[in-house]
Amino acid sequence: MTSNANPKYLWWQTGVVYQIYPRSYMDANGDGIGDLPGITQRLDYIKDLGVEAVWLSPMYPSPMHDFGYDVADYCDVNPTFGTLADFDVLLAEVHKRGMKLMLDLVPNHTSSEHPWFLESRSSRDNPKRDWYIWRDPAPDGGVPNNWLSHFGGPAWTFDEKTGQYYLHQFVKQQPDLNYRNLEVVEAMRDVMRFWLDKGVDGFRVDVIGLMMKDEQFRDEPISPNWDGRTPFGKLDHIYTANLPEVHDLIRGMRKVLDSYDDRMMVGETYLPNDMLMVYYGTPEQRECHLPFNFQLILAPWDAAKVRKMVDDYEAVLPADAWPNWVLGNHDQHRLSTRIGAHQARVANMLLLTLRGTPTCYYGDEIGMQDVPIPAHMIQDPPAVNMPEIAHIVGRDPERTPMQWNALPNAGFSAPDAKEAWLPLAANYTEVNVEQESSNPYSFLSYFKKLMALRKSSPALTVGSYRSLELGSPKAQASCFVYERQAEGQRMLVALNFSAREQKIGLSLPGSGKLVLSTRLDREGDVQFADLTLRPNEGCVIAL
Ligand code: GLC
Ligand code: CA
Repeated sequence: MTSNANPKYLWWQTGVVYQIYPRSYMDANGDGIGDLPGITQRLDYIKDLGVEAVWLSPMYPSPMHDFGYDVADYCDVNPTFGTLADFDVLLAEVHKRGMKLMLDLVPNHTSSEHPWFLESRSSRDNPKRDWYIWRDPAPDGGVPNNWLSHFGGPAWTFDEKTGQYYLHQFVKQQPDLNYRNLEVVEAMRDVMRFWLDKGVDGFRVDVIGLMMKDEQFRDEPISPNWDGRTPFGKLDHIYTANLPEVHDLIRGMRKVLDSYDDRMMVGETYLPNDMLMVYYGTPEQRECHLPFNFQLILAPWDAAKVRKMVDDYEAVLPADAWPNWVLGNHDQHRLSTRIGAHQARVANMLLLTLRGTPTCYYGDEIGMQDVPIPAHMIQDPPAVNMPEIAHIVGRDPERTPMQWNALPNAGFSAPDAKEAWLPLAANYTEVNVEQESSNPYSFLSYFKKLMALRKSSPALTVGSYRSLELGSPKAQASCFVYERQAEGQRMLVALNFSAREQKIGLSLPGSGKLVLSTRLDREGDVQFADLTLRPNEGCVIAL
């Protein structure tokens, strides 16, 4: 069954994906950490937002050296988050509401406590030795090559007992699996089938482009473009990322999904367009249904630059490839902190009216911001390992508890529960779901109107995209205007990226009907010739 309104399209094309970080969404048992029963309790809220699919960041058993991205058992639930039975309830309740559930698949590495790795490191001749990437020390006893961990330091750790180094592209408790070993390939396909058999609708695949490494283990060259921000950026990662061989592997994963009905896979891919497009595969050899397009997260917030970015992406997207857009996730500073609360409304209008599948990060719908984390409370491994650049690489600030109400613990936990695992935002008594639900002009009220408008409009959900030239150079520099069109419906989206009023001056005849302003305070007829946007205003206008 599909809740899809437009039968020509699939759920993951027309619907909005909502990402939940399970530790931080809802704590049902009062231990200060979110859990699966908590998420189940909040499903009516999620449904009411107009979301089609929920993506859960990892909820598997894990020693939590990277907060669940270090998986110790791919086919179970971490007791902190609940049980497999709790998961089954969650899945059934999601489906009961006509929504989909996607899991985070983390195939590149396991936890160092995964039984596979315990076996692998137990001796050089263990049958699973080759499931991970082991290398002899360099002649001087040092690391086998210059590869770096994303989280600071070398990507190699020495194992005293067996006298070799193992590879880990993240923390040392996250050893990389060896996908040149076909048993590993098959084991991960079994993991996929385990969840697909349960009825899970798809996967977000963690660092999908890192799964294959250079067979010769060559040193990576120094990057000519290093900006000095992070040590990892110093090398050009040509031997650890986006190798041609990774695409065979992804095609194989896609085949597993395609042997089921109506499932999907979105890959985590931070890449320029030319490299990104390869991850769609070809009509004969498909890869990801969607390779994440993170350009809006990384974009300088400038109307002309964003327009060019959208136009360029649209121009190179193969005809049969479906676009997608993202404003935030658990690895990036909060949208509202990056570009400010006023522009966050404009950005959400952009996200939800561009062509393609939008992915929203929990809390962005109420305008949550980064929460400053006092030094003694920092938990995220890159921030702990590299304290001098914790403000750049630390991800705790965007992972704080969801703000549900103004009570102690913000409704994330009961008022008398244990203190939450990360601090609450100082402003949670104002910025929370309950408060914003009772205010018709709040961020949440705005977000829901926008979601509903998108859903009700074929032009916005599946229509074509075309950006427009504006009347004056000033408007051109500060505003981004585009048209979406489908089934005889035409919608114009006009976004003011500046804090000044802008006269748009469209060379379109007559008038249109303004159906939504970011400020929620105007509707009705507007003359195109003198269309004016107020500071930080975005509008959707029906033609
Ligand atoms: C991805 C995840 C990130 C995690 C890393 C290692 O980038 O999004 O949170 O730390 O992979 O699994
Ligand atoms: Ca809990």
